[in-house]
Amino acid sequence: LYIGIDLGTSAVKLLLTDEKGTIKNVVSKEYPIYFPNSGWSEQKPEEWWEQVVVGIKELITNVDKDEIDGISFGGQMHGLVILDESDEVIRPALLWNDGRTWEECNYLNEVIGQENLSKYTANIAFTGFTAPKILWVKNKEPENFNRINKIMLPKDYIAYKLTGVHCTDVSDASGMLLLDVENKCWSKEMIEICGIKEDQLATLFESYEVVGTLKEEIATELGLNSHVKVIAGAGDNAAAAVGTGTVGNGMCNISLGTSGTIFISSGQFGVDPHNALHAFAHADGHYHLMGCMLSAASCNKWWMDDIVKDKDYIGEQQKINKLGENKVFFLPYLMGERSPHNDPDARGTFIGMTMDTTREEMTQAVLEGVAFALRDSFEVAKSLGIQIERTKICGGGAKSSLWRQIIANVLNVKVDQIESEEGPALGGAMLAMVGCGVYKNVEEAAEQIVKIINTVEPDEALVAKYDAQYKKFAKIYPTVKTLFK
Ligand code: XUL
Repeated sequence: LYIGIDLGTSAVKLLLTDEKGTIKNVVSKEYPIYFPNSGWSEQKPEEWWEQVVVGIKELITNVDKDEIDGISFGGQMHGLVILDESDEVIRPALLWNDGRTWEECNYLNEVIGQENLSKYTANIAFTGFTAPKILWVKNKEPENFNRINKIMLPKDYIAYKLTGVHCTDVSDASGMLLLDVENKCWSKEMIEICGIKEDQLATLFESYEVVGTLKEEIATELGLNSHVKVIAGAGDNAAAAVGTGTVGNGMCNISLGTSGTIFISSGQFGVDPHNALHAFAHADGHYHLMGCMLSAASCNKWWMDDIVKDKDYIGEQQKINKLGENKVFFLPYLMGERSPHNDPDARGTFIGMTMDTTREEMTQAVLEGVAFALRDSFEVAKSLGIQIERTKICGGGAKSSLWRQIIANVLNVKVDQIESEEGPALGGAMLAMVGCGVYKNVEEAAEQIVKIINTVEPDEALVAKYDAQYKKFAKIYPTVKTLFK
């Protein structure tokens, strides 16, 4: 049996599966997210660890511990975790959707220069990336910066607690702006620019490689054998791509979680010349391009939970019947936006209401606004000559059949739903299987395990309507963006 741990933003999801991918148990444990200032976003690594421990114990309650062979991860990307000499966490982690580092990003993009950054790392600076966060700590909290002994990403903190090995994998490390992505090694230039030393950074692994085994005392605490292997794992998007079978060349996966991503796998290394899409390593040993919006399913959650105050998402969506004709538009930039605008100041906007606008039309606008924003990244991919006719979909938002239908028609692609909704956790477990030698590589694991259960086909008439709607949507942000400064 294998354990996949998806260290997400709202919760950690743990999944237990056999080597055929039959899911035996799933456990989810929440932890808080802190917004100590507008645009800031933090979590406490100690709280992740507490919930992982509770979660593993619960996950394996009725299981013979001798049956468990491997553990691996998908983890929220980019977050900065810093430990001091005694392995104490120095300050709360700055997360992927934290927008505070705009000054550091301006320095990196303008003074160091985007061309140089792209040469060193294949990417430019975005506020969520890790290197700008390191510079922020250096500039704003020098006493904390001087205490840094180890720099790590969120899921790597869990691997470190489990094994004592300071490790990371190439897919997650790609989002640090410290990795030479093409050559999969740390960039000497970026290390110097950030004022750090290479030995503060983790040892790099491919996502499916074994990093170590459980520490004796941790194995005892969890009720596991100490020879259980821990496999490096991947950033949550690469892990989700594995879990939905998005591996090899030219495959696409959309994740509708707290963030929204379009992930395009590629056999070869390639860069978007305008750097609107990220050029990262994949968990299958190859590469991918990715567009990331910072608020996706979280827009609907905000709208339904905090504003409308109605938990019946499905009931609300059943009332929506006029697709492609909505007069109301919504810009989903509740945490600023990454791809393709790279604007931490962008904000959410409703536009186009009249006296007879209904609540359902506004709900519909929220779902459509997320789909239109995904199309922004999709258009960038198309402009690079990438042709996508179908995509997988995963994440909490993917449970909504209405949302899948809207996405199929806004993007004009077939949308495949996978048997398991647990994209990153299943992907993590699959990486553990490859690391333990059950499958010879990630492609083989995906072929054997991932099953498509349903496909939404785009409808020609609706595609035409949404095309016209998208053209209007695309004009809103450029028109209002100066208001957000
Ligand atoms: C990807 C990104 C998000 C997080 C969410 O670049 O920032 O998708 O990984 O956990």
